[in-house]
Amino acid sequence: MSEPDALIEAYRRQRPRSAELHARARELFPAQGATHFSRVHNPFRPYMVRAEGARKWDIDGHEYLDYVLGHGALILGHSHPAVVEAIQRQAGLGVHFGDNHGLEVEWAERIRSLMPAAERIEFFASGQEANQMGLRVARARTGRRKLLKFQHNYHGWADELAAKGSPGALDDAVTVIPANDPELVERHLSGGEFAVVLVEGGGGRVSGRVPTTVEFFQALPDLCRRHGTLLLLDEVVTGFREAAGGWQSVVGIVPDLTSIGKAASGGLGAGALFGRADVLSVLSPAAPAAQRVVHGGTWNAVPMSCAAGIAACTLYQGGGPQQAARAMADRFRRDANAMFRRIGANARCYGRSIVHLYLGAVDREPADDTQAPAAVDQLMDPAKTPLHQRLDLHLLLRGVASMRGEVFCFSAAHDAAAVTRTVAALEESLAAMVAEGTLPF
Ligand SMILES: Cc1ncc(COP(=O)(O)O)c(C=O)c1O
Repeated sequence: MSEPDALIEAYRRQRPRSAELHARARELFPAQGATHFSRVHNPFRPYMVRAEGARKWDIDGHEYLDYVLGHGALILGHSHPAVVEAIQRQAGLGVHFGDNHGLEVEWAERIRSLMPAAERIEFFASGQEANQMGLRVARARTGRRKLLKFQHNYHGWADELAAKGSPGALDDAVTVIPANDPELVERHLSGGEFAVVLVEGGGGRVSGRVPTTVEFFQALPDLCRRHGTLLLLDEVVTGFREAAGGWQSVVGIVPDLTSIGKAASGGLGAGALFGRADVLSVLSPAAPAAQRVVHGGTWNAVPMSCAAGIAACTLYQGGGPQQAARAMADRFRRDANAMFRRIGANARCYGRSIVHLYLGAVDREPADDTQAPAAVDQLMDPAKTPLHQRLDLHLLLRGVASMRGEVFCFSAAHDAAAVTRTVAALEESLAAMVAEGTLPF
């Protein structure tokens, strides 16, 4: 039998009500009691009861500074009063008309005012649904089958969006190549077989855990145009988070198609696909029968998501929340990296308003801490997963909820005091891991 783990025992002891819920959850949910792959944890993630601003509270009364933020969706922080008010008002007026309504028109107009590439818009229940429709539309429009995507980019769990070769997934028309190599893209597209190139805005995995260069993004529209392939930019994470105009405004490109989700609907479930009117015209009943794409979906443009989306997009205008989140994330990277250097830790933070924590040998010290400190195989080394999980647990014990001990999403509700507390929790956690012998460097 393995040694009892003091950390896990202390964590469990302090969370008896979460432990009780988790025991019941294990009898219900096959992924060790979790309802999302990123919530699987040893022994379990805390069971939350309330959230506000940058904080959330579990059923045992523990408070956490939250950097999960609804899987990165909540750039305004939890329960922004304007979004709450919009949801409450709409709940009283009707949660689902199953019919046309003015909110869908207003929300789409707001999205277009922020992202002018949205000549036409289609709503969905989630970000991956928007990606799936993007593939369908591209195939119908081009008459081609193949999809080109990039290593370590995440687009959802559905067949062709999942990692290539995922058990149970159909993906025979999918080709995956490394990003950052325009010539390699050209070699693939030149045969004229690819319907669509799908790329994650901001870089691979939660807005750039695996960096993608600005130059690469800028090369893609022309490469695709020259070979009759459509470009689908996945801005499910970056849409309205990186800037009011999304990642496309940051790198200065106009994709044929864009998917958004997460922040777009202010924290309620929704997604949207938008882009060129001529490309999306395959969704029109007037499209030629051989091209025509039909779109159902019980939850498309439900009034609740539209109301929340309008409230959120109104706040995004002008970029204030994005700048506030980015300022705190910049401060966090600066202070955390200073602390790592001071204590001689082999660790660095990089990224933008979503901060990635790297544990391991530092190959380079970029002058600009938006840049990664090591090569991709180091950044994505699966052998480091247990280390991050251990760190995650230490951070939770110190009142910090991160994404798997790897990613810290910032919002406009985070402040300097939160940053200071988080850096201190990180330092204490690393010291504790050194003391218990779980941090090998
Ligand atoms: C870049 C990206 N695209 C698509 C998705 C899928 O969105 P959803 O979970 O809303 O289906 C995600 C989810 O995390 C994502 O990070």
